[in-house]
Amino acid sequence: MSSIAVNSALDRIPRFYQTTIGKKIVMAVTGVMLFGFVVSHLLGNLQFYLGRETMNHYAVTLRGMPALLWPARAGLLLAVILHITASIQLTALKNAARPIGYVKKAVVQASLASRTMMWSGPVVLAFLIFHLLHFTWGTVHPNFQDVHPYENMVIGFRVIPVAIFYVVAVSMLGLHLYHGVWSMFQTVGVNHPRYTPLLKKFSAYASILLVLGFISIPIAVATGVVS
Ligand code: HEM
Repeated sequence: MSSIAVNSALDRIPRFYQTTIGKKIVMAVTGVMLFGFVVSHLLGNLQFYLGRETMNHYAVTLRGMPALLWPARAGLLLAVILHITASIQLTALKNAARPIGYVKKAVVQASLASRTMMWSGPVVLAFLIFHLLHFTWGTVHPNFQDVHPYENMVIGFRVIPVAIFYVVAVSMLGLHLYHGVWSMFQTVGVNHPRYTPLLKKFSAYASILLVLGFISIPIAVATGVVS
């Protein structure tokens, strides 16, 4: 490819991002990346039920692959930044298009998940910051041991307010994912009388399963099922 062709392709990316659909596609693509991370993180976490050795061995294995771990972390961070930036810009565009609010807010059509999107997002972000301080850096953990996620989870979730916070925050994430996955299908143009109800069901079941999988761990520890 000539340098002129490369330059014109590179010129088109920011121009595409300036359009509303460009921002929506960035939201959808980064959303899919984050959803993929959440699914793989849950599968990793569920090894908690296989016992201390399996769980800790998994963490050691991940740490032993820096060539994979660091690009994945960088990609994830970039996805979070782009997802938040595009969502703020889309909200600003929506507000600018309707500077005088509706006299009466029509909430009948909008689901609970879509109405809570703008604050479930910030709650998930606040949770993520706390979560990294808790289990990755150990700053807010009562007895953090590096590369010992099993012990860190058992000791961490014995603190009941922390376990409750995890359950509430991950449930908010579930609502966010439900609406997010569904919006993503709409952005890519999937809107069909036959498939729409199926896709809505898929988004709902996937979000419920994810929430149940994640919250089972703090609940199992806080109730003494795992000690
Ligand atoms: C009850 C639910 C959860 C539990 C028990 C849990 C557990 C953990 C643990 C133990 C670690 C540290 C792993 C290690 O350093 O070896 C970790 C890291 C992490 N978790 Fe979670 N997690 C939960 C939910 C979530 C959710 C919902 C998200 C995303 C929204 C998330 C995002 C992350 C991230 C980004 C890291 C850092 C990964 C890295 O070191 O690169 N976690 N989690």
